[in-house]
Amino acid sequence: MNIEHVRGHFAKHFDGSIGSVYASPGRINLIGEHTDYNGGFVFPGAIDKGMVAEIKPNGTDIVRAYSIDLNDYVEFGLDEANAPQASWARYIFGVCREMIERGVDVKGFDTAFAGDVPLGAGMSSSAALESTYAFALNELFGEGKIDKFELAKVGQSTEHNYCGVKCGIMDQFASVFGKAGSLIRLDCRSLEYQYFPFNPTGYRLVLVDSVVKHELASSAYNKRRQSCETAVAAIQKKHPHVEFLRDCNMLMLQEVKSEITEEDYMRAEYVIEEIQRVLDVCDALEAGDYETVGQKMYETHHGMSKLYEVSCEELDFLNDVAKECGVTGSRVMGGGFGGCTINLVKNELYDGFIAKANESFKAKFGRSPKVYDVVISDGSRKLC
Ligand code: GLA
Repeated sequence: MNIEHVRGHFAKHFDGSIGSVYASPGRINLIGEHTDYNGGFVFPGAIDKGMVAEIKPNGTDIVRAYSIDLNDYVEFGLDEANAPQASWARYIFGVCREMIERGVDVKGFDTAFAGDVPLGAGMSSSAALESTYAFALNELFGEGKIDKFELAKVGQSTEHNYCGVKCGIMDQFASVFGKAGSLIRLDCRSLEYQYFPFNPTGYRLVLVDSVVKHELASSAYNKRRQSCETAVAAIQKKHPHVEFLRDCNMLMLQEVKSEITEEDYMRAEYVIEEIQRVLDVCDALEAGDYETVGQKMYETHHGMSKLYEVSCEELDFLNDVAKECGVTGSRVMGGGFGGCTINLVKNELYDGFIAKANESFKAKFGRSPKVYDVVISDGSRKLC
């Protein structure tokens, strides 16, 4: 992330002034997809790509925001009625509003930001943006009184209330809590978490981006969540203690099979199995058993493709190529409907896999996928 780049643009747009610079990362997720809003487990880590923002209070009630990457400038007031149109600016506006809701006296500020986390690739560029501003506004206007979990929730509520995505907590949590060299297992019901040092000797983690962006991703995402809630409501009638799919097993789901649609049943089946896979992967990691880790990743891909139906032709193709090349584990990462596969690949197979993925993807779809090596990195922080 290039600080000087952001500093240069900030100075140019705001009369040579100097503010404070903050950064937050995007994330990967080794396993545990669509489990967060079901009270289950996730296993993400922050990455060495994210957002950087320079911010300086300007003594007014107006936010003056410049997106360097989009070369777009927006001004907005801080009252609810002042919501800007531009979707990138709504993230910043939403964070301001959510901080105000939590008692932080947010005032006007000047800001410029840029990022190197690819947009729409399933690496949570939006969470990186939200976390950057939540962290910064807490320091600049809130004397640091909002704790880290609440900062993550500020980002999540911004998605819910200002961007129309009923997301879980994983992305914002990973962005705020990231730690270099460690993945984090989060129990999304109790919010207990544990850092797992992740250094798979002999292997590399690589993301292969299909560069597919699904236009209806947010409504399809919300629809998946709705299916899970419908299944829970049916199960609750027999098992009143059940709050989330996390509290259910396959027997309980089978009991209500005739009361819910086949589609809702498949969605719930995937989630119940996926929650267990996260625990299995943690055990396998502790035992240094990367073959099992990889096997579970393939199982997740299968579930996301056939039961949860959030994959697409390009991602299924990349998953097949990985299998053919002997890659240890591969699956669609993040919400799905496009974006990346995450691959756990033995060092000696890496070059062959990447060459084959490039070649065969291009032959079939007429364009190249993008390849990203990731380094597990620290979460939200002030840079200077
Ligand atoms: C998106 C959401 C997360 C999570 C994932 C799927 O990234 O923002 O909360 O649900 O999809 O695991």
